[in-house]
Amino acid sequence: MTPVIERDLGALRARVKAWKQAGDVVGVVPTMGALHAGHLSLAAAARAVCDRVIVTIFVNPKQFNNPEDLANYPRTEVEDAAKLAPIGVDVVYVPDGATVYPDGFSTTVTVEGVTECMDGVHRPGHFEGVATVVAKLFTQTAADKAFFGEKDFQQLLVVKRMAADLDIPIEVVGCPTIREANGLAMSSRNLRLSKGGFETAALLHTELQGIAAGLRDGEPFAVLRDRAIEALNAAGYGEVEYIDLRGVNNLSLLWAAERPARLFAAVWFEDVRLIDNIAV
Ligand code: PAF
Repeated sequence: MTPVIERDLGALRARVKAWKQAGDVVGVVPTMGALHAGHLSLAAAARAVCDRVIVTIFVNPKQFNNPEDLANYPRTEVEDAAKLAPIGVDVVYVPDGATVYPDGFSTTVTVEGVTECMDGVHRPGHFEGVATVVAKLFTQTAADKAFFGEKDFQQLLVVKRMAADLDIPIEVVGCPTIREANGLAMSSRNLRLSKGGFETAALLHTELQGIAAGLRDGEPFAVLRDRAIEALNAAGYGEVEYIDLRGVNNLSLLWAAERPARLFAAVWFEDVRLIDNIAV
């Protein structure tokens, strides 16, 4: 059944209150729309363990440090609701700007520590925007569990820290990255790649896998990283913002996979910023 589209905060709150009075566990999947199989896997994960599932769609202006990126962000609400129907999502919550940031809104949520590297450095203000909107969506939906993709692993850590620090009674669940058949991590921004570019963009994942294999064979990370950057440059990639090896808990920089670690990358290709990460 096609989910109910709810735009009104009061009506959403009344609905959630009734669910909770009936003892239902409520799950939320925050999104900015343009849903792809990655988002649908989060909704399915929520459906599997929650009695009620809300998917939120809000293109959050506060997390875009590039106005062009905000303007170009795909908006496909009707198609999005149709994609959620087979999963059995109960409500798609689509607040307008004033419902999330009413006149006079003056609060920003800043998470220290895990935001002080990678996207926190390359996208100034991005994680403040994310933490602020997610705090609002958590309190507006009053959900018991929230589902986020590991594709945005740093975001997942930021949201976990924020919810814990603000005593928001919600369990934040991380779910595996969903990939295209060629290995490219699914992202709404992939819609902006050309047909040929879509194939070349998969090289990023191939190179990360190559680094992971090299680390397993004992090769030094710095050598592996330089080789990967050369391969990306040769394939026509633009700026490589970072290819880092970091600890999974606090994102501390590592030079060998001496404890649970992940490889993280952000690179530009065809004017699209691609990010990816894999466990090593
Ligand atoms: O990952 C996203 O799509 C966004 O950062 C989120 C979590 C929906 C907040 O706007």
